[in-house]
Amino acid sequence: MSGTAAPWWRSAVIYQVYIRSFADGNGDGVGDIAGIRSRLPYLKSLGVDAIWINPWYKSPMADHGYDVADFREIDPLFGSTAEAERLIEEAHEHGIRVIPDIVPNHTSDQHAWFRAALEAGPGSPERERYIFRKGRGPDGAEPPNDWVSCFGGPAWTRVPDGEWYLHLFAPEQPDLNWQHPDVLAEFESILRFWLSRGVDGFRIDVAHGLVKHPDLPDLPPRRDPDAEPSRPHQDHPHWDRDEVHDIYRVWRKIADEYPGDRCFVAEAWADTPERLAAYVRPDGLHTAFNFNFLMSGWDAKDLRDVIDDSLAMLGAVGAPATWVLSNHDVMRHPSRFGRERVRRWLANERYVPEGPLDLELGTRRARAATLLMLALPGGAYIYQGEELGLPEVEDLPESVLQDPVWERSGHTDRGRDGCRVPIPWSGDSAPYGFSPDDATASPWLPQPAGWARYSVAAQTGDPDSMLELYRAALGLRREHPALGDGGLTWLDAPEGVLAFTRSPGFVCVVNLSAEPCELPPHSSVLLASGPLEDGLLPADQAVWLRQ
Ligand code: NOJ
Repeated sequence: MSGTAAPWWRSAVIYQVYIRSFADGNGDGVGDIAGIRSRLPYLKSLGVDAIWINPWYKSPMADHGYDVADFREIDPLFGSTAEAERLIEEAHEHGIRVIPDIVPNHTSDQHAWFRAALEAGPGSPERERYIFRKGRGPDGAEPPNDWVSCFGGPAWTRVPDGEWYLHLFAPEQPDLNWQHPDVLAEFESILRFWLSRGVDGFRIDVAHGLVKHPDLPDLPPRRDPDAEPSRPHQDHPHWDRDEVHDIYRVWRKIADEYPGDRCFVAEAWADTPERLAAYVRPDGLHTAFNFNFLMSGWDAKDLRDVIDDSLAMLGAVGAPATWVLSNHDVMRHPSRFGRERVRRWLANERYVPEGPLDLELGTRRARAATLLMLALPGGAYIYQGEELGLPEVEDLPESVLQDPVWERSGHTDRGRDGCRVPIPWSGDSAPYGFSPDDATASPWLPQPAGWARYSVAAQTGDPDSMLELYRAALGLRREHPALGDGGLTWLDAPEGVLAFTRSPGFVCVVNLSAEPCELPPHSSVLLASGPLEDGLLPADQAVWLRQ
């Protein structure tokens, strides 16, 4: 599937399949590979170029698959390795590429290496593959430093022999020691295992976290996003350290050995576009999620700054931008945008919404944001269900919450389950076609009553639906020579309005102000996120124009 002038990943629209919640083929209430296979025609008709699949490897599921016990086996909950191979083949037959997740920062505590490390005891070579240390204080009862887990609480857990091990996430996810040659060699072998099975690349989990400061010093002072809007880079003992790029130089060479433009996308949370660009230099990874875009407020200046800085910094290293509005870790964007104040937030922080939700407003803005995202130069990511306009489920009963964040935060943070609820396909009541009719179990998280209107079946053919907006936008994006990779030119526009052209003959206008705005000269409207009023673009709407 290669041979085009520019590699596919420079302009690809990649659809994120959160496997547990996409489609349940065997009726056990959890999404699986069979479900994905059955929905390939849907993905093809949606018009995406590739799918990124969240971890499908053997796992005790302490963090829903991000705790991997065996990177070469598919978890039976999701299927088998043979089924994964069939999915890759069938997706390719549909013209869809496949990018699994790879999780190099940590393993499961049930991984053979970690079990061996526990058994072998302090000072053993087995422990060297992880980050074990003695504690502080006279009897070593204090953690070795003040690092905190991203899920809450200390980043260290003590084992019965008295040593502590590092886990930047849950205790069931011990961090690997990337200074150890075994770790490098093992991941090279894992990459090759899947590349030789035809995957088109990998999404790299916590790509910015692999290398730790050798002295494991305490953390720098915490920053306040409001007090420090310019967000300069901060030297940090475990995030975004320069040495991490040595690993990716090796990985790039491996990917380049395989035919067909295999590519990496980094989950790298960097303070600045410049730091992000360092991941995607010509001898590094191919692309990285642009979280600065996702973390923007609903604010024209903020968005324009992010767009300009991203294009400048990524362009300087010859890398395409990628744009993303939602994923399985953050509040779904109609719910973020449906707040009176939509604030920018910082890398490696959890987003906390402020004020009551106005979902109609959030949905209007989400439609506009989609047209903005898909008009920008480069590639884009769509998180399953965003094409249906799904809101965050903010009222899941506490008794069903499963994200480790809920427990680890001492029940102060409800975690990420609200954006992971199984998606609705058809029907009037749960499971809305997510599971087959003869399913033996309910979906692993309850779907709200009232989600029938969001289902694929309900929206198909309704020109005003979110789904048809995505289909139309993706269809135009495929056809229009101005869209995808390339550049943009800003047009003069009133305050709060973003307007730009892309050559040949394409204009995008997004109105983030409170007033309707005039449109620049154009010959016709290609697509609008909502109806124009007397030729004006209402607030919180966007339009694509032919010049
Ligand atoms: C980032 C993933 O997106 C998230 O879901 C996961 O919990 C952490 N990395 C730990 O692997």
